[in-house]
Amino acid sequence: MEQTLVLIKPDGVRRNLVGEVIARIERKSYRVVALKMMHADLETLGKHYAEHLGKPFYEPLLEFMMSGPIVAMVVEGHRVIEGFRKIAGTTDPTTAELGTIRGDLGADQGTRVVQNLVHGSDSPESAAREIAIFFPN
Ligand code: RTP
Ligand code: MG
Repeated sequence: MEQTLVLIKPDGVRRNLVGEVIARIERKSYRVVALKMMHADLETLGKHYAEHLGKPFYEPLLEFMMSGPIVAMVVEGHRVIEGFRKIAGTTDPTTAELGTIRGDLGADQGTRVVQNLVHGSDSPESAAREIAIFFPN
């Protein structure tokens, strides 16, 4: 069965949307098979966001991701990687489709990095790499 890494980012936790995000995942028929709340450290985020190193939003992104607790989970289901990306919506929450997490619940607040509530792995390779970072056991 396919697995993906989902993160509820600090804005999602601050806004008490943990239950809302999990409910949407479960209603779509996917299973949460591992879950923890944590403060992500620089080392973890450096690995997770290695592809964005050098981009203008890299430093603000890491700072934002360390601004409060996050929830990390492994979600399982047939084609769950693309399925969760569809549930999450596109990166910019202002223009993300209504019906998605980002489209329904988020909006660009003019911050240095766009805050968009959730992360989902974008390929099987990313999912395997990211799950190993957040759930090394
Ligand atoms: P994610 O990895 O968090 O699921 O989001 P994504 O695939 O939709 O977006 P990605 O391109 O992987 O970017 C990771 C996160 O960096 C921030 N970002 N800001 N132009 C910008 O200001 C910009 N581009 C990316 C967002 O927080 C995005 O989710
Ligand atoms: Mg991404």
